[in-house]
Amino acid sequence: MMKEYNYSVYTPRHIAREIVKNTLDNYFGGKATIEKLNRIRMCDIACGSGNILVLALEELIRLSKKLTGQYSYSEHWISGYDINPEAVEIARAKCQEILRKYRLRERINIFCKDSLELRQKFNLIVGNPPYLGEKNNKEIFQRVRKTEFGKRYYEAKMDYLYFFIEKAVELLEKDGVFTYITTDYWMKADGARILRNTLRERGNFLIIHDFGTSLFKKAVGQHNVIFTWKKSVDADEEVDVKSLGESFKILNSSLYDNGGRVVLANDQVAEFNRKVMKRANYTLDQLVNINQGLVSGFDDAFILEEYKEEFKSFLKPFYKNKDIGKYRISGKNRYWILYLDGTKKMTAPIENHLRHYREKLATRREVAKGTIPWWQLQWPREEKIFKEPKIIARQRCRDNNFAYSEQEIYSSADVYFITRKEEKINLFYILGYLNSRLFAQWFRYNGKCKGDILEFYSTPLRETPVFYPRDKKEVDYIGELVQKQIHDFSPLREKIINDHFYEKFGVGSLPLEV
Ligand SMILES: C[S@@+](CC[C@H](N)C(=O)[O-])C[C@H]1O[C@@H](n2cnc3c(N)ncnc32)[C@H](O)[C@@H]1O
Repeated sequence: MMKEYNYSVYTPRHIAREIVKNTLDNYFGGKATIEKLNRIRMCDIACGSGNILVLALEELIRLSKKLTGQYSYSEHWISGYDINPEAVEIARAKCQEILRKYRLRERINIFCKDSLELRQKFNLIVGNPPYLGEKNNKEIFQRVRKTEFGKRYYEAKMDYLYFFIEKAVELLEKDGVFTYITTDYWMKADGARILRNTLRERGNFLIIHDFGTSLFKKAVGQHNVIFTWKKSVDADEEVDVKSLGESFKILNSSLYDNGGRVVLANDQVAEFNRKVMKRANYTLDQLVNINQGLVSGFDDAFILEEYKEEFKSFLKPFYKNKDIGKYRISGKNRYWILYLDGTKKMTAPIENHLRHYREKLATRREVAKGTIPWWQLQWPREEKIFKEPKIIARQRCRDNNFAYSEQEIYSSADVYFITRKEEKINLFYILGYLNSRLFAQWFRYNGKCKGDILEFYSTPLRETPVFYPRDKKEVDYIGELVQKQIHDFSPLREKIINDHFYEKFGVGSLPLEV
């Protein structure tokens, strides 16, 4: 339902107002003239029912009165495109109504057309492009991928909206500006590398307003950003940032981290990031393996609430992500999983139990493809990750809660299992670091988060900078404190560990509460 909403529902007035204001303020730079007004060529390439264009049109007509003493309109000022014919009709009608209001008559250039095929140039672009993932919309993506434009910009795991940003970059004249409202995922997402490179190489952000929350009542989980970008390669311009309740300016060259992701950090945070990067001598994936938990493909069949003697040889203790706390997992497992990874034949009692779910189990993709038998877990992973000593992490969590366990523990894909790359790596030291406030602060700005929730996904975790001392004594010192925390948590000891990392990295704690 949300996808449909994003694809076709229209921009609320206050957002449309911010988009139009940012774009025109930037174009006129406080000095509106009739010449400048006449040179405007504004386009909305996903104009829908015209909510943004209508506001822009009225704004320009009013401006003409201020500059010349009478209301006027030029058909070149605004254009709109959308593939939805009904929306186009509405947009046209709304613009006609505005013209009538000011007793003006001219052509309205709003057309039903696929705007990813457009070629003409504009100096201003505005929009709320359609947000769509590729997963359930393969055909739509396939059509674009076949074109020259699509070949230039397609990337795996991208969102359809990226094409509309890239199209805006291509359609703009030199020094042209576009303002969009989008989700904020592209700033850090793995599937937005080509997009970020394009934006970085071909221009400068002028404004980024990251709301950290949804601006659309019906799309609650979404986080939106309104941003203005200028096609200019000559200068490194300052961008006005509003994020996490703060406003600040930074140079475009300081916007990107080492991995090319957009990091909205004020000077203080940028300095913190620089120090962390400078001191770090490893990335986390050089020291440990980061493994995602298993996928059963149908939990009702495999996960049991009680232990059953007749399934003994396959039953393993199963934990839910909520069971993971700081340093420790909660008590005894409340669930058991039938760990059927295909290495052993199933027994008659298990077959008897699974038979009831056979139809559902058979519809799983891997079974349908013939890669696994109907009774096997879909992605059992390598069993050793559940057996070895490990750090366990919730994929999504308000805090950085990482736990340690040497027991056999199994969990689903919303839990990560972090195991040693080499025997000599001290997992307790790594655990201390991952649980520290310094790491939380680093991750909140540089890793991945949605609103308040930290998202410990594989890529940002792997790229986490770590300081792992050469001096074994130092590693063991933290390792021993951490072992004590696991057995008996003490706030005072926690402070000692936190201060140790702050001191090692030469940073103080940031004012932001984590
Ligand atoms: C989120 S809506 C925004 C509409 C508009 N900005 C508004 O607020 O009224 C996205 C629009 O993109 C349009 N769209 C999707 N694919 C398109 C394409 N290839 N070319 C032009 N428009 C497209 C949809 O029909 C939809 O109207």
